[in-house]
Amino acid sequence: MKLIFFLGKGGVGKSTLSILNALAVSHQDRSVALISLDRAHNLFDILQAESSELPSSLKVIEADLDWFVRQYLQETEAQLRRNYSYLTAINLEEHFKILRLAPGMEEYGLLLAFKHFYEKFKEFDYLIFDMPPTALALKFFGLPSVSLLWLKQLLKLRDEILKKKEIISGVKFGKKEIETDKVKNNLLEQQKRYQNLLEIFRNESNCRINVVSNPDSVSLAESKRIYEFLSDLEIPVHELFINKSSDKHDDRMLPPFFMKKNIFFSPKSRFPLIGISNLQKYLEMNKRLIDSLEK
Ligand SMILES: Nc1ncnc2c1ncn2[C@@H]1O[C@H](COP(=O)(O)OP(=O)(O)O)[C@@H](O)[C@H]1O
Ligand SMILES: [Mg+2]
Repeated sequence: MKLIFFLGKGGVGKSTLSILNALAVSHQDRSVALISLDRAHNLFDILQAESSELPSSLKVIEADLDWFVRQYLQETEAQLRRNYSYLTAINLEEHFKILRLAPGMEEYGLLLAFKHFYEKFKEFDYLIFDMPPTALALKFFGLPSVSLLWLKQLLKLRDEILKKKEIISGVKFGKKEIETDKVKNNLLEQQKRYQNLLEIFRNESNCRINVVSNPDSVSLAESKRIYEFLSDLEIPVHELFINKSSDKHDDRMLPPFFMKKNIFFSPKSRFPLIGISNLQKYLEMNKRLIDSLEK
């Protein structure tokens, strides 16, 4: 399965390019799922079509992020109850009501949504994600690394707690007691899951992270920051799409940072990129774009 992400500043053309990519790669014998993880969904507005009017090999989904945030909280609450039975004395529900509004919940919801669709469409040939604007999209990609840092510290703490428990109880825990420590096992499990996610994002042969920009200095500056942020996380960017570029574009107009990067100039359309037939027409007129999206 090929995973494809489109990210960039609001309005640069992420949704349009994700749809063009889905149309370019979807054939009768290839299944494609196109999923919007942006709260401000507009895939169906751009397609101007209902689900039932789309080819059967193409699934288009506008994910309900609030549902995933609630789901994340429910799972966390259930896990806390399982691991720490004494917590039933505390009114967890009250805490969770407030947690829903806490910073960070949105990206956990986003990551859960990603995992959900990744599992659900495992058998598909392409999974294309139309991402939310930059700040949130980068938190999403940063979350596995941040969580791994936390987990490393928490595991250290847990080991210290286990040692203290031994001292207090005066009994040396056997390997078995340590291995069956629910809290430690849970932390180890989470560590494995985040490590797997990070490996998925870092594997460029299956995962393409595309940055979309426009040929203006503001969106190019934002794109450069995306490259730098992802590079710190050792997550590679596959290609930069300079969308809405003029016919007379010139690589030398780009800041030196972009030299030798994989760049595709997708031209500004003379007709609105709304409705499947217009989008198909744009693809037909830009065969090189199809090649770039298909390769
Ligand atoms: N290559 C293009 N040529 C002309 N207009 C474009 C092009 N790509 C996108 N647009 C237009 O730009 C606007 C924003 O595009 P959209 O895909 O919704 O951006 P984003 O998802 O990044 O916010 C829309 O009106 C869309 O039709
Ligand atoms: Mg969009």
